[in-house]
Amino acid sequence: MTQETTMDDIIAFAKRKGFVFQGSEIYGGAAGLYDFGPNGVELLNNIKASWWQANVREKENYYGLDSAMFKDPRVWEASGHVGGFSDPLAECRECNTRIRVDKELEKIGVSADEKMNEADINALFVEHAQEIACPKCGGHNFTPARAFNLLVKSNLGDFTSKGDSPVYLPGEACQGIYLNYKNIVDSMHPKVPFGIGQIGKAFRNEISPRNFLFRTREFEQADTQFFVRPHENKEAFEKIKKDRWQWYLSLGITEKHLRWKQHENLVFYASDAWDIEYDFPTYGFDEVEGIHDRTDYDLTQHMKFSGTDLSYNDNGEKFIPWILETSMGLGRVFLAVLSECYSKDELGGEERIVLKLPYALAPTKVAVFPLLKNKPELQEKARSVYAELKKYIPAVAWDDNGNIGKRYRRQDEVGTLYCVTIDFDTLEDDTVTVRHRDTGEQERVMISKLGDVVGE
Ligand code: GAP
Repeated sequence: MTQETTMDDIIAFAKRKGFVFQGSEIYGGAAGLYDFGPNGVELLNNIKASWWQANVREKENYYGLDSAMFKDPRVWEASGHVGGFSDPLAECRECNTRIRVDKELEKIGVSADEKMNEADINALFVEHAQEIACPKCGGHNFTPARAFNLLVKSNLGDFTSKGDSPVYLPGEACQGIYLNYKNIVDSMHPKVPFGIGQIGKAFRNEISPRNFLFRTREFEQADTQFFVRPHENKEAFEKIKKDRWQWYLSLGITEKHLRWKQHENLVFYASDAWDIEYDFPTYGFDEVEGIHDRTDYDLTQHMKFSGTDLSYNDNGEKFIPWILETSMGLGRVFLAVLSECYSKDELGGEERIVLKLPYALAPTKVAVFPLLKNKPELQEKARSVYAELKKYIPAVAWDDNGNIGKRYRRQDEVGTLYCVTIDFDTLEDDTVTVRHRDTGEQERVMISKLGDVVGE
């Protein structure tokens, strides 16, 4: 990120280069919904792969999962979401704009505790109503604040036809892990402490979705739940926090753009909670991941509501494991990575935009260029290099459009690490020019050695 980069630069760039598009754009755009374009989906998948590698595959005693999004509606009662997963909402009486009362209070320096009930938060709102202006019309005439449940309702065959219980889209992805904890214990026989990791979608009826990918109504979470013996949570919690911090550094995020924040007002399921925050352009520091000590809340609740024994049996000793959670928003991390790697610099006297993604995250690792488009012998040779590289490098691009300088700029913008040019000398001596993204340096390399230079 360069000093003067703004979030508007990132948003415009993300659209222009096929990373992120507004959801339902041709219908005027849907608030809080975004689609990932061809470069975006590659970057997103690479972030997921890096997370999965570090948090499931490389860990001892961690198990992967992919659970169904729809669940028995009682799950969301047991989890506390039907009763307690709400934000305080008020509506402008003049123009019907909805505001999130706690966020508006925060802006004027008044902190509303997450555990406050509807009446208390409304009392606080009434006290400060004259200091809060409607973001659309500027008025101060609001309805009373009321608790607005964030779960998104849907319908599904058998459940909905039973009458009064709607089904819900997941308000948080991790519930699927609690539902499968017993299946994993019974099928994989893990020894406590052990972990389960999952990447899954979550949906929230956010009152005012805002800040691009930061607060959306549909998003993905990458979660781990670590099951420990009761009261054996503290040391493991510290180790998990350390590991998660390191993972962000492994993505190439600089430490000065990260910080910890401990929650003072805890959500209903947590006994301790820390956020990892990233310093976004324009928005400043804000949460990308929550790390929560959930004690035995989740398994105890599901045991109560389902009637199924979820205690862990260790050679006759039975207990309900406590859970330590890491929950990361993929959209927010995607935005952090894009912000971190987007930069402007000067190369050969020309200004350029370059996305300095690490190899593992770059949507394209190598681009292959025949020097000229209209020379069949160059095209043929370049095609053979392209086909060969594609066999062992995950993402290789082909570009034969425009002059070489323009092609370099295009690849720099999307973070391609190497450009390989096939020219007339190649036809003579089987060497190609390899140009490096970050420095612009060029070297002549034998085709047979190309993998050593442009592979990871
Ligand atoms: N299971 C715990 C849980 O869901 P959370 O703090 O509500 O905890 C975890 O969410 C992460 O999910 C957050 O750190 C954030 O990165 C992401 N997240 C939450 N709400 C979001 C939203 N409306 N839009 C985008 N990401 C969101």
